Amino acid sequence: MKAYSNEKYDKLIKTFVEAAPFRPDIAIVLGSGLGDFADSLEKIFTIATSELPEYPQSTVAGHKGFMHFCKYMGKKILLFQGRVHFYEGYKIEEVLLPVFLAKQLDVASIIFTNAAGGINSDFSPGDIMLINAFYPWFIKKELSPFLGVGNFEARKRFYDFPTKKISAKIKKAALENKIEIREGSYWYTTGPNYETPAEIRMMKKFGADAVGMSTAHEAIFANFLGMDVGAISLITNLAAGISPVKLSHQEVIEAGLYAKPKFEKLLKSTIALL
Ligand code: HPA
Repeated sequence: MKAYSNEKYDKLIKTFVEAAPFRPDIAIVLGSGLGDFADSLEKIFTIATSELPEYPQSTVAGHKGFMHFCKYMGKKILLFQGRVHFYEGYKIEEVLLPVFLAKQLDVASIIFTNAAGGINSDFSPGDIMLINAFYPWFIKKELSPFLGVGNFEARKRFYDFPTKKISAKIKKAALENKIEIREGSYWYTTGPNYETPAEIRMMKKFGADAVGMSTAHEAIFANFLGMDVGAISLITNLAAGISPVKLSHQEVIEAGLYAKPKFEKLLKSTIALL
């Protein structure tokens, strides 16, 4: 990717790769309110993102800046605890760095998790939704992972993700553990503001089941880099206009706490199946 061919990130990549204690089988990005998952695995080594040169720092409550190298059931896992969002004012190339760093260690599979607002009227806060399609509504052109990329192959490729392979494992893990999961599509919006009720009505008419402010560009990029991609949303609130109460970030954190046990179980069982 042209975005990373400049020397700006050479030192970051070198520091990260040299610090890595092993080559992980799978990477997981933990979304808003879901960071505690990191405490449920055996941590072998932790890198604070503040120690990495040029690495962007998350400014959002509930997003810690750590990369944990963990083990679980014989699997090696790279956990990103704390995500950097485009709406925090970072460039798209900075927001995509976790995916790029995972690729440096030849990670074959990546699972993104996020908090999302429920648009589908059947959804309730605390539900877990397997993302089966994205609406990458890249209104701002600078948000495309491929803007300025001199690689024409990237522009004309068709991006089919999430990968069926990982989604099938997530469904199997849910079934085996009797965890009820929803399945649906995720509409990406830049944020940071929540949507207006009119926007949510539009998204609903277009068929979206949930809306959030991350993941879509990360998933496109991971897919481009050849990784198998899986994605899970935690429905933390009903979207604007559907919810009778005013939306708040606090609600997002609380739904994370509520769903924590089933979320942990689902993710761990998926890791074991991969
Ligand atoms: N909208 C956008 N992003 C979100 C929401 C929402 O309602 N809830 C959690 N992330």
